[in-house]
Amino acid sequence: MDSALDWHNAKALLEWQYDLGADCALAEAPVDRFAAEEIARAKAAERAAAPMPGKRTQPVPLEKGPDPVEVAVKLAKETQDLASLREAMAQYSHCDLKKGARNLVFSDGVAGSKVMIIGEAPGRDEDRVGKPFVGRAGQLLDKMLAAIDLSRESNVYITNVLPWRPPQNRDPLPEEIAMMQPFLKRHIALADPDILIVMGNISCDALLGRRGITRLRGGWTEAEGRPAIPMFHPAYLLRQPHLKREAWADLLSLRAKLEAVS
Ligand code: URA
Repeated sequence: MDSALDWHNAKALLEWQYDLGADCALAEAPVDRFAAEEIARAKAAERAAAPMPGKRTQPVPLEKGPDPVEVAVKLAKETQDLASLREAMAQYSHCDLKKGARNLVFSDGVAGSKVMIIGEAPGRDEDRVGKPFVGRAGQLLDKMLAAIDLSRESNVYITNVLPWRPPQNRDPLPEEIAMMQPFLKRHIALADPDILIVMGNISCDALLGRRGITRLRGGWTEAEGRPAIPMFHPAYLLRQPHLKREAWADLLSLRAKLEAVS
């Protein structure tokens, strides 16, 4: 007998099992019922897959789930307004980021504004609160906007490429961007801004199909049929404060464009 399992310990173990309901001995050795179930299931599957004697067999096609991008396109197309778009995104179950997120981060600001900002993905604070750009980067964004008389309280609308926080704030995967892109495009169509601000590399990737924000920033382009300006992401500016000079130039360019479209 194991030295740790003396008479007292063995008795205590038996009593514990008895308390759990194991009050009679069925066999000498324990039976793992979970393993037995697994084996029975595997045998049944084997029998079902086995060819019937004398019958020609066709290869059984592997069952393939629906394409997440196609599902997103269909759901997004069916939405008529921002509320139904939000609902459709909340129902969408193909993006695994949803499982780890506390909240769907849909938007903030005034829908219908001339300016719409496209950020990347919620961070910890946004995930907790359920609104985009509420952390440190968001505070800097608010200051940048205020410098050209813009604010989310009156004349800016804000969303992100992804509505759910990636774990540990990792970069979104290409397939995550691809499956959420139909919702983003519909979001832009429904909010109908005059100008898009595309903040950071992930957003440039999702809307312009290009990365390289250092080269792209400040250069007016078009996205979803509207003028769009790629800009440094405020989180990047917090890490690289010397780039605020370029960010300021881009804000002035944005103000000039806004005056031109007004
Ligand atoms: N960074 C983003 O791109 N979006 C947010 O909402 C917060 C941080």
